[in-house]
Amino acid sequence: MTNDGKNGVKHGIFITFEGPEGAGKSTQVALLLEHLRQKGIPAAATREPGGTVLAEKIRDVVKGHDGAEKMHPETELLLMEAARSQHVREFILPRLEQGVSVICDRFFDSTVAYQGGARGIDRADIVQLNEFAAAKLVPDVTFLLDIAPEAGFARTRDRVETAGKFDRFEAEKIEFHRKVRGCFLELASAEPGRVKVIDAARDPQAVHSDIVRIADGFFV
Ligand SMILES: Nc1ncnc2c1ncn2[C@@H]1O[C@H](COP(=O)(O)OP(=O)(O)O)[C@@H](O)[C@H]1O
Ligand SMILES: [Mg+2]
Repeated sequence: MTNDGKNGVKHGIFITFEGPEGAGKSTQVALLLEHLRQKGIPAAATREPGGTVLAEKIRDVVKGHDGAEKMHPETELLLMEAARSQHVREFILPRLEQGVSVICDRFFDSTVAYQGGARGIDRADIVQLNEFAAAKLVPDVTFLLDIAPEAGFARTRDRVETAGKFDRFEAEKIEFHRKVRGCFLELASAEPGRVKVIDAARDPQAVHSDIVRIADGFFV
């Protein structure tokens, strides 16, 4: 449970999942959590925006806002970062420091892809805010579950938890989601050591096997 890590001396491993709606993030987070626990590795799963009582309230504001008054991209960005700063300090860092590994469904790469790549906010501003909100925490490894947006949405249409309901992001046009995908792939080519692209258009077990092969390398 050690790494020579940029995030401290001895701590849990911080793993994040990225990708569009319907890529299978929630599915793969659950499978990886189960895999680590079976190996006797203390681990916890969480998500962004959210992961604490306060941050989940901010999630509801960001995702559920009805649009009678436009939410400006900058407002959306700062709400995401507010949720993150709470989540990192209240949930993630205390666990990592206690040697518990944390698996997070979305993290700061989503902010670059959605608020930057798709909404068009300046990348440098986002990177600076990400670093501030995350208290300089960087994932040890990030799994980018890559899938065409159309294929992702075909899956979420059938998903029981959200059937027939679209949040503000899902309601965006397909071009928005193509920009998100392009930005995620750009991030992966810029940081190939951290961000691992996984072909998410395959069956869940095939995706899980690829993830485990990489994740296990952090727990030797
Ligand atoms: N590899 C896969 N192939 C087909 N369907 C999948 C796969 N992974 C997940 N699903 C299903 O697709 C839907 C979306 O998956 P989910 O894990 O909720 O994605 P995300 O969290 O990325 O939005 C769910 O109904 C889930 O059961
Ligand atoms: Mg999900």
